[in-house]
Amino acid sequence: MCGIVGFVGRKEAAPILLEGLRRLEYRGYDSAGVAVYGSDGLQVVKTKGRIQALAEQVETRGGLNGSIGLGHTRWATHGAPSDINSHPHVSENGRIAVVHNGIIENYAEIREFLESTGVHFVSETDTEVVAQLLEYYYQGNILDAVTKALHRIRGAYALGILCADCPDRLIAARKDSPLILGFGEGFHVLASDVTAVIEHTRDVCYLDDGEIAELTADHCWVYDAYLRPVEKEHRHVDWEISAAEKGGYEHFMLKEIMEQPKAVRDTITPRIRDGKVVLDELEFSPEYLKNLDKIYIIACGSSYHVGMAAKYVLERLLRKPVEVALASEFRYCDPIVTEKTLALVISQSGETIDTLAALREAKRLGARVLSIVNVVGSSIARESDGVLYTWAGPEIAVATTKAYSTQLAVVDLIGLAFARAMGTIGEEEYAKLLAALEDLPRQLEEVLSHREQIQYLASIYFNHPSVFFIGRNLDYAVGLEGSLKLKEISYLHSEAYAAGELKHGTISLIESGTLVVALAGCRPVFEKTMSNVVEVKSRGADVLGLTIAPLEEAVGKVVDHTLTVPETHPLLLPSLEVVPMQLFAYYVALMHGCDIDKPRNLAKSVTVE
Ligand code: AGP
Repeated sequence: MCGIVGFVGRKEAAPILLEGLRRLEYRGYDSAGVAVYGSDGLQVVKTKGRIQALAEQVETRGGLNGSIGLGHTRWATHGAPSDINSHPHVSENGRIAVVHNGIIENYAEIREFLESTGVHFVSETDTEVVAQLLEYYYQGNILDAVTKALHRIRGAYALGILCADCPDRLIAARKDSPLILGFGEGFHVLASDVTAVIEHTRDVCYLDDGEIAELTADHCWVYDAYLRPVEKEHRHVDWEISAAEKGGYEHFMLKEIMEQPKAVRDTITPRIRDGKVVLDELEFSPEYLKNLDKIYIIACGSSYHVGMAAKYVLERLLRKPVEVALASEFRYCDPIVTEKTLALVISQSGETIDTLAALREAKRLGARVLSIVNVVGSSIARESDGVLYTWAGPEIAVATTKAYSTQLAVVDLIGLAFARAMGTIGEEEYAKLLAALEDLPRQLEEVLSHREQIQYLASIYFNHPSVFFIGRNLDYAVGLEGSLKLKEISYLHSEAYAAGELKHGTISLIESGTLVVALAGCRPVFEKTMSNVVEVKSRGADVLGLTIAPLEEAVGKVVDHTLTVPETHPLLLPSLEVVPMQLFAYYVALMHGCDIDKPRNLAKSVTVE
């Protein structure tokens, strides 16, 4: 989704902005632009297309002079991707430039009002309204104009503002869309994502909703919505810049798939001490847990798929009802939530707006919120009653892989810790499951060592136009993720079905040449699943099976090709099964020549509803 970078200091701003924008490319975008103030006044260059095209335009102009500026990557919402709709947007008098992430909900009403005063708009965007409104309110003090404009607009925003009348400072403001400030010697930066500025500083702070910041080369002031000063806590970003680089891999996605053993190890090891899971971060008493009426899992996309697997794991271990809701539906379904409900919110980015809004709704209804988040200090992490971070490191590819795996590992840790506190697990079962969890990183390495076999099978099946993933129980949960991985990066049509459900309608789509990926690793339902596999096979489907090593022979008798993963504790099966699914999607997309790390129409962090 859109990205923001801003710089004020004593160096040329344009190269810093362009490099920052390059680092934000992974978020997904369709156009980009920069505004720099210097001896030539306010200079704006913006274009539909890639950062490279923007950089070429800047170069053609002979560069942009000035040591203060803003950059933006746009993911179109209001108005098609075009040069004119790209940010920065500039007010009619050419003196106020604005970049914006989010959506101004009442933009039409404000636009109508401004037009009635004689203002001429040039773009179709909601953002231009902000620039024009600032000009309308501006009477010599940009901060005053900003507060007046913000009191008038509704919606979500992270804003960067540059006013030619005070060209030594940037103004930033945030509501429901992330924005960080970075501190350095003789400069300040602002960005929607630390990746954009990590090269320059690791000393950052996160703006909270309603806050406004004023940045010069040497000073940074943060205010609340009424311009009362606010003290901000600084945080140190401790991951290495190389974590956000490809490190010799062709794609971030492949690098991140290969990083999964380490990511899972980093996530679980610090939380296992003396043969026990210790979640120091949480303060949920055994009484509170025993009295829970329900666990409501709330998430989107792949995080939702982790939730689907978590339902099987947590219900089995905790003997409490677990409901899984798509965040975008939760808010509007009049959910049954009480003070005894625990909302388990799962999000890699911690900024997905649907998930954040659902979290707030769950809290409003009385639930306590425990979140599983990868990005430290993100909105979801900050607004939760408890947070368990997944130590996956930065995930750059739009298609999530290592974040999914570490989320699953955290679910397993929660299951173990809560089951022990609630007395719903015996010592022997606890020890077995914990040992299996500790062995996962090694087993993941083993699965990854077979990636050439998966590449080979992808070369056989990559041309099937439609792919069905079937499985029961935890196999079904993994099928959902396998199907999403395939469609999001290869653009092939794909669906996932609970294997037993197929015969209730969807089986009519199975014909000669349809590819079915059959997940059959779940022992308790193995025979039932295999009956469903036989059903699709006898209707002409080509079947690629995925199972655990001890069941390879049985599966191999029915399907065309078989992939295996090592046997683990049955509740941990998704952690291993998902890896061949990720690799299969990756190689199929590669064979189709797709833009794997930045699939069309998608954004890494979805910050609009
Ligand atoms: C998965 O590959 C997608 N990128 C997407 O479904 C993602 O999981 C979803 O948008 C939720 O994101 P979050 O985990 O950052 O909240």
